[in-house]
Amino acid sequence: MGRLDGKVVWVTGAGSGIGAASARALAAEGAVVVLSGRRPEALEAVAAGLPGRSLIAPCDVTRAAEVAAVVDRIHAELGRLDILLANAGTNVARRDWAQLAPAEAEAVIAGNLTSGFLCALAVLPLMRAQKDGLLIHTASIAGRLVGLLSGPAYTAAKHGLVAMSHALNIQEGVNGIRSTVILPGEVATPILDKRPVPPSAEDRARMLQPEDVADLVRYVACLPAHVRLDEVWITPTWNRAHVAELERAGMLPRP
Ligand SMILES: NC(=O)c1ccc[n+]([C@@H]2O[C@H](COP(=O)([O-])OP(=O)(O)OC[C@H]3O[C@@H](n4cnc5c(N)ncnc54)[C@H](OP(=O)(O)O)[C@@H]3O)[C@@H](O)[C@H]2O)c1
Repeated sequence: MGRLDGKVVWVTGAGSGIGAASARALAAEGAVVVLSGRRPEALEAVAAGLPGRSLIAPCDVTRAAEVAAVVDRIHAELGRLDILLANAGTNVARRDWAQLAPAEAEAVIAGNLTSGFLCALAVLPLMRAQKDGLLIHTASIAGRLVGLLSGPAYTAAKHGLVAMSHALNIQEGVNGIRSTVILPGEVATPILDKRPVPPSAEDRARMLQPEDVADLVRYVACLPAHVRLDEVWITPTWNRAHVAELERAGMLPRP
């Protein structure tokens, strides 16, 4: 018996990285998983490895009509939606102020913040009618800490997403709806290939792995309906920003 037997979960960004690992973790608990992303072949590959029932629903989460169509389909085919994992996100290589193009700033803000609003707005009516629902948003520590690495558009968008999740809780808790925002540090996933200087294999091995975040998603998803985890940071013990700081201060222990 899984702890999510009978539950329907919608995962965006499900074709790779944290989304794919979370889809596997949630399916292992018995959930029916709806997989969204823009590349159907990536979603099909993930679905093929899932133990239970799944639905492939390709969509671009920056487009309101496509997002609404997925929720309509979930309602029509599965009859309910218990959990949204709004996880899709993106960044660009030319991300600093000297290089960021207006169209890329728009795309990063749409991909990380507008998408969160569109998904939340689409699922809320269904969840209000059920008087129950959980939204989990994948933000980033860049949603709380302002630094150079992630670029200003991503950093601002993820700050907005964190605020959005807390704002949801203020109004929707009375309707039985909860929102959790997860703030990961560095996770070894394909998004790192978009960095101006992609990290080495050695660095990636020391980072969080997608399964680590998926395990947290599973924990949040399995909490009883009266418990809300508002905001969670999950970071690698070998934190490269801290290591660099220690190095600058001449305080890094030598082997
Ligand atoms: N890896 C890290 O270090 C890290 C740290 C903190 C937070 N995060 C966040 O974690 C989340 C998952 O990223 P990841 O690390 O697992 O990287 P990833 O493997 O690149 O996953 C991102 C997923 O989002 C999907 N996606 C992007 N734009 C989309 C759009 N407009 N519509 C629908 N799907 C879209 C992509 O699929 P398609 O291209 O097929 O659409 C992809 O499967 C993101 O929100 C990211 O910002 C990552």
